[in-house]
Amino acid sequence: MKHTDIKDVLSSPEQFFGRQITVCGWVKSFRDSKNMAFIALNDGTTLPHLQIVIDKSQIALPEGATRVGSSVKIVGAAVKSFNANQAIEVNAQTITLLGDCPLDYPIQKAKTSLDFLRTLPHLRVRTNTFNAVFRVRSKLSFAIHRYFQERGYLYVHTPIITGSDCEGAGKIFKVTTIGFDPKYKTQEEYDADDFFGQSAGLTVSGQLEGEVMATAFGKIYTFGPTFRAENSNTTRHAAEFWQIEPEVAFAEIDDIIEIATEFIKYIIKALLDECPEELAFLEKFYEKGLREKLQKVVDDEFVRVDYTDAIEILKKSGRQFVYPVEWGCDLQTEHERYLTDEHFKKPVFVVNYPKAIKSFYMKQNPDGKTVAATDLLVPGVGEIIGCSEREADTGKLLQAIKERGMKMSDYENYLDLRKFGTVPHSGFGLGLERILMYATGMGNIRDTIAFPRAKDELR
Ligand code: 4AD
Ligand code: MG
Repeated sequence: MKHTDIKDVLSSPEQFFGRQITVCGWVKSFRDSKNMAFIALNDGTTLPHLQIVIDKSQIALPEGATRVGSSVKIVGAAVKSFNANQAIEVNAQTITLLGDCPLDYPIQKAKTSLDFLRTLPHLRVRTNTFNAVFRVRSKLSFAIHRYFQERGYLYVHTPIITGSDCEGAGKIFKVTTIGFDPKYKTQEEYDADDFFGQSAGLTVSGQLEGEVMATAFGKIYTFGPTFRAENSNTTRHAAEFWQIEPEVAFAEIDDIIEIATEFIKYIIKALLDECPEELAFLEKFYEKGLREKLQKVVDDEFVRVDYTDAIEILKKSGRQFVYPVEWGCDLQTEHERYLTDEHFKKPVFVVNYPKAIKSFYMKQNPDGKTVAATDLLVPGVGEIIGCSEREADTGKLLQAIKERGMKMSDYENYLDLRKFGTVPHSGFGLGLERILMYATGMGNIRDTIAFPRAKDELR
């Protein structure tokens, strides 16, 4: 169906003035007066709507075309608009109804709360809110690729089905083709009979394979789905989320923190440059001061605080936290939020966590107690990046695997990377939906991914 995208019409109106054009889209609103009628039309290619002006004495208006949600094709003359809010409008010559939208269409203005919309993943994406959010998601994803591609990183695809647990947090979804049968005497016997002849699961992170690729290509990044069977029903955890994981050979912890900082500033700046309408919309309806907050991320230095000092700050805060603060404790959301939202009021790298609460692969510091790991915490969301230098010493790595009771045979290849030409190397993982929450002002991770998966939620 030959037609012009509404984005093109609105972004370069001068090209269309005086010309006859064909546009298609869905009716967003309909306004009627005695002689004239107006349709706000959107085809999804841009956030703002195109105004269609209908002279009722001249053309027939198909009945369904006046209903919100109907799809129509309109041929008309593009003219300068007298309305200050828009540069161009279309005087309709013919209106063809493509698809009627009966009155029980659930996306009506009166009840479009985010909670309600979440029950309609197939329809909510037609709203202005999700038009803005998913356009930001697309631009952000492309900016992420651009950042790495412009700097010579290799884009690698790591497997979705794996036999090892990268984070060791026991949140792996099992992949199986056979149900458990009492005929199996042991777990091993059952696993041996299964598709892969061993237990398999969905990846929680592409890091271990990313390290393999980095120790051949130097600088790599992954950008793919990761899965965690998070049993907690929070607004920040999804069972399926997208992670960006760069891995850099010859980089130590300070180098990777520098890279992560530059990277975050780059992608946030890209959004400010490329999504002005979307961010203005999200600021108006979801987070006051959103653009100023993002501009500060670009302009200001990120804070860096040692875990040990962060614990002191929390202890001196005078707050009654639900989870008590002691050196050695993992930082809970309430602690992270105090540090970012109230104490520092900007993004913070918390560095040198106790080794007992972090993953086996992190480089052990000379103090014997902490690891060269950092989380980047941001106001309103908490952790968006998990980052570390990797342990390059085989002995220490073996010991860390043993201490955690992990199965050594699953990590033989990984250990080989240390045996054959080991190098200092570091990497991080950015949760795409987490940074989207931060960049869009959406308070629930379910509103940053089109088809959210979480405990008891698979729509
Ligand atoms: O901190 P995490 O667990 O780190 C890793 O997976 C490392 N292997 C990364 C690396 O060094 N290559 O997860 C990384 C990020 C978190 O900071 C968070 O942004 C996001 O992934 N994340 C989640 N996002 C949504 N839902 C969940 N359940 C998430 N779990 C982690
Ligand atoms: Mg983490």
